[in-house]
Amino acid sequence: MKISLSVDQELCKKCYACIAECPFDLINKDKEEFPQLRKAAVKKCIRCGHCMAVCVSGALDINISPLTTSPVVDKNLLPDPELVSHFLTSRRSIRTYRKKVADHSVLRQILEVSRYAPSAHNGQPVHWIMVEDPAEVRRLAGFVVEYMQSLKLFPGLTRAWDQGVDKVLRDAPHLAIAHANPLASQHPIEDCTLATSYLDLAAHSRGLGSCWAGFLVQAVHFKYQPLLDALDLPENHEVYTALMLGYPKYRYHHIPQRDDLKVTWK
Ligand SMILES: Cc1cc2nc3c(=O)[nH]c(=O)nc-3n(C[C@H](O)[C@H](O)[C@H](O)COP(=O)(O)O)c2cc1C
Repeated sequence: MKISLSVDQELCKKCYACIAECPFDLINKDKEEFPQLRKAAVKKCIRCGHCMAVCVSGALDINISPLTTSPVVDKNLLPDPELVSHFLTSRRSIRTYRKKVADHSVLRQILEVSRYAPSAHNGQPVHWIMVEDPAEVRRLAGFVVEYMQSLKLFPGLTRAWDQGVDKVLRDAPHLAIAHANPLASQHPIEDCTLATSYLDLAAHSRGLGSCWAGFLVQAVHFKYQPLLDALDLPENHEVYTALMLGYPKYRYHHIPQRDDLKVTWK
């Protein structure tokens, strides 16, 4: 889409927040000192929408994120810092799930939140496979176990599997797998990791438990073919992260200790 910016001269206060916040200096002033898009924007705009979103008077509109369809930030809905700290520190990796499956709408809601994770150059390269069917999660866990068995890795986990216990994907009813095309993104690892972290936290906010599925990602990186066949990724795509999801069987009642902060203040 060709980028176009309009400025309502009645509303514009000439505060120039739009100029200050544009990541690539793509807005300057016209003869009357109103903001205008530079020609370079055609090629260089990263479609972040910040110019429209930062405007206090709603004077700027941009076709890649129109003002009328961009929600207003509601200060009353922002949690206070104590609440945020408690929310973040009370999230735990969940390894025992109830059989209950999550509604499709809940899985969609948490995925929608993940779209707002930061991404390099606002590239938004992250694609998801959301496994809704618990039987399919189990089938994928089976491939990971086969991979482990083929290399004689993690004998405890593979023995447990033989006894009917899934210590790989923990009998989670759902699994979210983040993948991206590394040729189309400068930082696919970071982008997928951040999107997965957003998903993790959004899941926590809706009472869903989650756990990063490192073993599955390892088996994909090893290119275990039956697993790759099952995932059926688009051409050139790589899997970077994966997250088990489901309702926790147990609630955590305490926040466990973590290492002291490691920081150099300068
Ligand atoms: C990249 C990554 C991979 C992980 N892989 C697994 C995994 O395969 N299985 C598992 O049970 N936990 C996995 N975890 C969860 C960590 O063990 C967990 O985050 C850590 O023990 C801290 O516990 P907490 O998340 O409850 O604070 C992984 C975490 C990360 C960040």
